[in-house]
Amino acid sequence: MAGPSTWRVGVLFSQTGVTAGIESTQLDGTMLAIEEINDAGGVRGKPLEPLIYDGRSDPKVFRANAERLLGHDRVRVIFGCYMSSTRKAVLPTVESFRGLLFYPTLYEGFEYSPHCIYTGAAPNQNMVQLAKYLFEFVGTRIYMVGSNYVYPYETNRIMSDFVVQSRGRVLGESYLPLEPRAGDLDKVIRDIAKAKPEVLFSTVVGSGTARLYEAIRAAGISPRELPIASLTTSEAEVAEMAPGAAENSITAAPFFESLGLPAAKKFVAAYRARFGEDRPVTAGAEAAYFQVHLFARALERAGSDNFPDLLPEVRKVEFAAPQGPVRIDPENNHALLWPRVARVNSKGRFDVVWNPGVRLKPDPYFVAPSLDDWSAEMAQATHS
Ligand code: ACM
Repeated sequence: MAGPSTWRVGVLFSQTGVTAGIESTQLDGTMLAIEEINDAGGVRGKPLEPLIYDGRSDPKVFRANAERLLGHDRVRVIFGCYMSSTRKAVLPTVESFRGLLFYPTLYEGFEYSPHCIYTGAAPNQNMVQLAKYLFEFVGTRIYMVGSNYVYPYETNRIMSDFVVQSRGRVLGESYLPLEPRAGDLDKVIRDIAKAKPEVLFSTVVGSGTARLYEAIRAAGISPRELPIASLTTSEAEVAEMAPGAAENSITAAPFFESLGLPAAKKFVAAYRARFGEDRPVTAGAEAAYFQVHLFARALERAGSDNFPDLLPEVRKVEFAAPQGPVRIDPENNHALLWPRVARVNSKGRFDVVWNPGVRLKPDPYFVAPSLDDWSAEMAQATHS
């Protein structure tokens, strides 16, 4: 709520639990933007005042905290959530209070709420590019392993469609608990070894990612023999792994810590100066950062954080984000983003291996679900 002297906003990420590693980078990205805005005089002369709660990687805790923020603390805007299960737990509460959730995470698509602004990649902005790269340079015989919740199921369904379109084969599909034990990993690795895929597609999230990669390498399956592709293995998950475990892994995202763009370098330097030189900087942190700036620009124009006043302005503003200029597509509340594909080198850094150099419109419902329709849509996006 616009208090007498501040704009109160909710900040809801996991600081504990399985996805605390990646979500703490999103919390930091959010705080960096809030501090920049406040240092520059706030919005209409009033600073942003963050109320920060820990979602503890648990959908029930996320929902309870959203109720507290919107009901008790009377905020109208929340920045937060990583796992789709937590977004789905929070959104009905946000809708019933007529608030607005800014969600800075890649996800499975097929969702729209006027009360959510989606600033992470939809599948047409990361998965299409990852699949095209894999099928051209790595292989089409795929084994899929995921954490046991909605994002991995839905993502594997889309990836299976791409594999079939490319005349490849899905050799197996397994799901692990969010906190996998050694026995769970052994079983999946035995199955992978039997199936002999050319590439492993992982939708495992959070701390389970390091467990999986380390167990695969410990089983003697080398990074050359079996590259791992994943949209949820970022700089934060690699930082939790034994050295070399992620080598040769492939991912797609709009932002990498290693991007050479001046705006990206400036962001990484500011982030590290504020939070520590060894902190990983992720696409999730970058989305968390730019969405606060988009919000502040919209708030400046609207003069109110009331949902009906704010939403039309959020759909109009643009911000020069570290990845490139971004804005929200008024048709679906998702961001136009700059897809890139990267491979992890022997030092654990992401080297960009394919940079189409275009800003891509979001297509969360996959109106054009073919891998090759992408280029036509891309050309259109270039002129937008
Ligand atoms: C996710 O659950 N959207 C990574």
